[in-house]
Amino acid sequence: MTSAVPARSLRALVLAPRGRDSAVAASLIEQADVACLACRDLPGLIEVLDDDVAFVLITEEAIRVADLKPLSLWLAGQPAWSDLPFVLVTDHGGGPERNPIAARWLEALGNVSFIERPFHPTTLLSVARATVKGRRRQHETRSLLEDLRQSELRLQQTNDQLERRVEERTAQLQHAHDELVAQIAERARTEEQLRHMQKLESIGQLTGGVAHDFNNLLTAVLGNLELLRKRLPADPGIERLIDGATQGAQRGASLTQRLLAFARRQALEPRPTDLAELVRGMGDLLGRSIGPSIAIDFDLPTGLPSALADHNQIELALLNLAVNARDAMPDGGTLKVALSAELASEGRDLARGRYVRLTVSDTGRGMDPQTLARAIEPFFSTKEVGKGTGLGLSMIHGLALQLKGALRLSSEVGRGTRAELWLPVANGSSAAVAPEPADGVDTSKRQATVLFVDDDFLISLSTASLLEDLGHTVIKAPSGPAALEVLKNDKPVDLMITDYAMPGMTGLQLAEAARKLRPDLPILLATGYADLPVRASFDLPRLSKPYLQKQLAEQITSLLG
Ligand SMILES: Nc1ncnc2c1ncn2[C@@H]1O[C@H](COP(=O)(O)OP(=O)(O)OP(=O)(O)O)[C@@H](O)[C@H]1O
Ligand SMILES: [Mg+2]
Repeated sequence: MTSAVPARSLRALVLAPRGRDSAVAASLIEQADVACLACRDLPGLIEVLDDDVAFVLITEEAIRVADLKPLSLWLAGQPAWSDLPFVLVTDHGGGPERNPIAARWLEALGNVSFIERPFHPTTLLSVARATVKGRRRQHETRSLLEDLRQSELRLQQTNDQLERRVEERTAQLQHAHDELVAQIAERARTEEQLRHMQKLESIGQLTGGVAHDFNNLLTAVLGNLELLRKRLPADPGIERLIDGATQGAQRGASLTQRLLAFARRQALEPRPTDLAELVRGMGDLLGRSIGPSIAIDFDLPTGLPSALADHNQIELALLNLAVNARDAMPDGGTLKVALSAELASEGRDLARGRYVRLTVSDTGRGMDPQTLARAIEPFFSTKEVGKGTGLGLSMIHGLALQLKGALRLSSEVGRGTRAELWLPVANGSSAAVAPEPADGVDTSKRQATVLFVDDDFLISLSTASLLEDLGHTVIKAPSGPAALEVLKNDKPVDLMITDYAMPGMTGLQLAEAARKLRPDLPILLATGYADLPVRASFDLPRLSKPYLQKQLAEQITSLLG
């Protein structure tokens, strides 16, 4: 190597060991604006070969006997853009036709230009220039390829980014779609529930109305039968007829009672109730009702708060649930009755608050979803004709709602049924409920004048007769205003008994107006309704329809003393 080469600028390598060949070639080549590096032998040349070599000038005698393999290897390892040019100075001319060994050079070196000695300096110069130009084009190709590679890389990156974003977006869309589907399903469920509740509500209103009228009729029927029994001569045949009619009417009354319960219109006496004690007290009755093939398992923790509930109605409800469970376990099983204190947060069927939960579960045949959805509808029964009225669960549902609680059912075919009756915890103050009048009150003592107000002619007639039979004088009034007219006169009235539901003026409105006229007048409210408006100032004693003469007498005695 004879001269230093500026970094990364093109240079030519010269391998011309004979005489001054190398120096002459170098001075000519430098005129083509390329630095020149003279090499001592082929291995020395291979050592300095790199991309910045413009071309290699070799004289034929320098490689005639050399081992060309390392050079061929280097050439084969060139990058795609590179085809290193050689200028071969020969003594015998270029083409293989005139110089047979030229074929060997062509094969070994690839890109070869031949210059035949003796040559004119301009020939070498022009060959050098042309070769450098060719090499520069290769370098241009290299940077084009490099640019191309960079853009490909960028494209790849953009592609990757795009794919990532598409994936993210797809995931977001999928998520939104899933949410939407869930919302639609939830909405459909809520709508279905709402429809179901509305349906029950309208059935409730209808049954409630019918049952209320029916109750009035039965009040008249039972009242008149009672009077008939007293007035007809003692005759076993007649007695039997009256018994039959009375029993029929009483069965009608208990059916009506259940309908009113479903319609949330039964007269209830809610008071703080110790449910554990209630359930324990029913142990024997439950055992007898479900028979020996079914085991009963009680879970009644101590120290539960009292529930605000109607003792008798809850007993009836529990009995109904137990009988349903029994019917679902014809081959035996286990009935579980459990109590627990629960907290409810604002939900679909309960207000936020503390509750006592009575759970009745069985290991019976369970219900399919269609049966479960209809189970609390009144008159829905899967039992054979004559076996079930289909009013059991509807009654319990109405009772739960009326007590501001809830009935929740869950069931699966083959896996049993679970009924939960949620009842609100009684918060301290026990509902003021008059003690039940004791049996056998002497009803004959006081003869009173009773103002009896009812818009129903039949009831008016039969109740007036019952009262007169008790020895009282009766003034009948068909409406609130008519009753007020009576009170405005100075007629003596000892007691007013009024119906609640009357057109124009309700029994409560009448009572309010009557108190203004006669502040001390005892008033008894006869009603088949429990959903009376809450009026603290008017906690009137009540008489539930249909009533017997004995109940009328007891109430009158407890009011008049
Ligand atoms: N524990 C239960 N296991 C399986 N199915 C039940 C259960 N409780 C109720 N059902 C289903 O719900 C229906 C309605 O019950 P509901 O108590 O209202 O009426 P019922 O039992 O058929 O008649 P009733 O109570 O008047 O004798 C039943 O006919 C039955 O198909
Ligand atoms: Mg039942």
